[in-house]
Amino acid sequence: MTLTTLAPVTHPVILAIETSCDETAAAVMTGEGRLASSVLCSQHDVHERYGGVVPELAARRHIETVDTIAAEALRKADIGWTDIQAVAVTSGPGLAGALLVGVSFGKALAYALRVPLIAVNHLEGHIASAWLDQPDFPVPAVVLIVSGGHTHLYLIQADGGRRLLGKTLDDAAGEAFDKGAKILGLGFPGGPAIDRLAQTGRAGAVKFPRPHLNATTLDFSFSGLKTALLYRWRDRVGSTAQESVADIAAGYQEAIVDVLVEKSFRAVRDHGVHALAVVGGVSANSRLRARLAARAAESGVRLALPSLALCTDNAAMIAAAGQRAYRQGRLASWDLESSADLELSTVSVPRPSPMPHTDGRRT
Ligand code: KG4
Ligand code: ZN
Repeated sequence: MTLTTLAPVTHPVILAIETSCDETAAAVMTGEGRLASSVLCSQHDVHERYGGVVPELAARRHIETVDTIAAEALRKADIGWTDIQAVAVTSGPGLAGALLVGVSFGKALAYALRVPLIAVNHLEGHIASAWLDQPDFPVPAVVLIVSGGHTHLYLIQADGGRRLLGKTLDDAAGEAFDKGAKILGLGFPGGPAIDRLAQTGRAGAVKFPRPHLNATTLDFSFSGLKTALLYRWRDRVGSTAQESVADIAAGYQEAIVDVLVEKSFRAVRDHGVHALAVVGGVSANSRLRARLAARAAESGVRLALPSLALCTDNAAMIAAAGQRAYRQGRLASWDLESSADLELSTVSVPRPSPMPHTDGRRT
């Protein structure tokens, strides 16, 4: 496919589209990097009764809403279709059918408007969300992405290069929340439900294992924790134990939070950086935010936590990452395809020599 696009602008007005999972989202970012609008249509009502996201239903709902959501983003930004100077779209990773809707829409729109198309990796979007509220957040920095599909620790270097420091070996932290909530009968999505209930429970009343905490790597593992919850829950039913569901939820949440906090600050210390960003849906967790803030204050580490609306999936972060890609000349071609298991490119830098992890509290 060939097309003569309009003369490229240095700082374009970008319309961003995000449809990688169960949120249909659109946002407009001005050439100066100001977020002019960010709107989304959550599909929780569609998936709730199934206890999880049903991929086919997600794709269908995206088809029904994507054009309305994009129009709403333009209306809120007070611009028209022809004011758009570039279109950024999430091309992966995510649900295949859901991604396909956004990519087809973004591609068709950019082609019709004769403006450049930008493909954004969803994880690059989550990383960019750390800088949306705090544009002066420094690099190098450690970034922890904690979402429904990822628990990945990256080192972002001064030149913007990324290095993967560790990741989950099985379930993602968000999955641990969602599956845990399912076991406890708290509904979907599980993270916010556990977060709410745990606020009325005692975090220390019920002990859960801290999987992989003492391993020397920065990898994570959460599937054993979920199994521990299952047994704990099964044994509780029919027993005379006094702990409440809220205590169990609080204890389970505390185990996840402990591991995330410890490994993040261990990464910060091992790599000699002074900045930590935690992004993705689970970064909305109130206990995680409080624990991270306390630890950052105690250890003099600059912490970036996106505002709540920017933690879970949104298109503002896709616009921010898209603008960065545009400035670096990373434009997509017209044969762009969505990719459900798209990897985030990383660069290789030498590992620092490992330091002993004694009490795990020094940074
Ligand atoms: O980033 P996100 O919206 O989508 C993915 O890219 O996966 O993350 C969704 C995940 C879900 O697992 C959801 O349960 C979790 O984020 N989540 C939370 C909270 N809010 C959302 N987990 C714990 N506490 C929360 N408050
Ligand atoms: Zn996400």
